[in-house]
Amino acid sequence: MESPFSKPSLKRLHVYPSSIMSWHSSHLPILVLVSFLTLLVGRETVSGFRICSYNVHKFDFQKALKYRLVHTLTRIVYRCDICLLQNVVDPDRRAINSLLSSLNRYDGYNYKSVSSKGLGNSPDDMQQYVFIYRTQTVNVTDRYQYESKPRTFVREPFAVQFQSENTAIKKFALVALHTEPTQAVQEIDQLYDVFEKVSKKWNNANVMFLGDFHAGCGYMTRSDKKNIRLFTNSKFSWLIGDKVDTTVNTGTNCPFERIVVHGKAFLKEITPFSAKVYNFGKELKLSRTKVMEVSENYPVEVMLKSPALLLQATPITILLIFSAVVHCLL
Ligand SMILES: *[C@@H]1O[C@H](CO)[C@@H](O)[C@H](O)[C@H]1NC(C)=O
Repeated sequence: MESPFSKPSLKRLHVYPSSIMSWHSSHLPILVLVSFLTLLVGRETVSGFRICSYNVHKFDFQKALKYRLVHTLTRIVYRCDICLLQNVVDPDRRAINSLLSSLNRYDGYNYKSVSSKGLGNSPDDMQQYVFIYRTQTVNVTDRYQYESKPRTFVREPFAVQFQSENTAIKKFALVALHTEPTQAVQEIDQLYDVFEKVSKKWNNANVMFLGDFHAGCGYMTRSDKKNIRLFTNSKFSWLIGDKVDTTVNTGTNCPFERIVVHGKAFLKEITPFSAKVYNFGKELKLSRTKVMEVSENYPVEVMLKSPALLLQATPITILLIFSAVVHCLL
């Protein structure tokens, strides 16, 4: 099923009825074969598994009351199988519940959320990490709030382990971090310790870090990289590069929002070159004012590969294809 905003599957369906009419009945087995293959290949191309990350700049109940803002946010999150929202201020869950009910109005997918507690140094800036995920495509298997002693993060990373039959990697952990700009370098470096903790806890080295790291524009320079283990250790791959601009403001050009994965195994199951900024202002033709209303950052995203084609096909599908082929040959 597609989102209410893009309808490629409808187009595909429309191709067939007219051609069926003109086909001679002896071509039926071929037609069956072709449609099954189309179905399979189609599923392969339209599916894929999208992970997104977005700093929503103090998304609280006041913001959730703004209809237009929630509608825009709904269109952004609806594209994603998992969407990490950072900087959510929602102690009583009213803001996220209102976003969830907006998402679940459409009869395509159903969404749920898993949130951290409020994190921060000052009572009037306590932020939550919230993962919103599609219940049809992914399960949450566990969650973990990292705690350093002495505390080295302003907002300590929050990790969630996911399991999905729709991805080739199957089981992976996502770790959220919104750094404090003035100590971004130290916090990004300490993600290495978080990696060790998380991968040991779940006995799973498929770990992805995402969030607004402030990894650029004075907060992190090129020469800082030698002090960051996520750069010096080659097992980590930075999927959003240093030249990417994740800020909405035309006057700034900063790669703040990042996605980093650990390990060859995980990297292999990521769609090559799929990590990018989602410039929803351009895609959805929204004015700068509407874009800035949600946040001064853009979301970033990456696609995970689907399981291999044949593994995805059910035995009955394989049997049908096989019999169609045999039928054609006779
Ligand atoms: C979620 O977990 C249930 C129960 O273990 C399983 O049947 C289902 O296939 C899982 N869903 C996905 C999308 O992996």
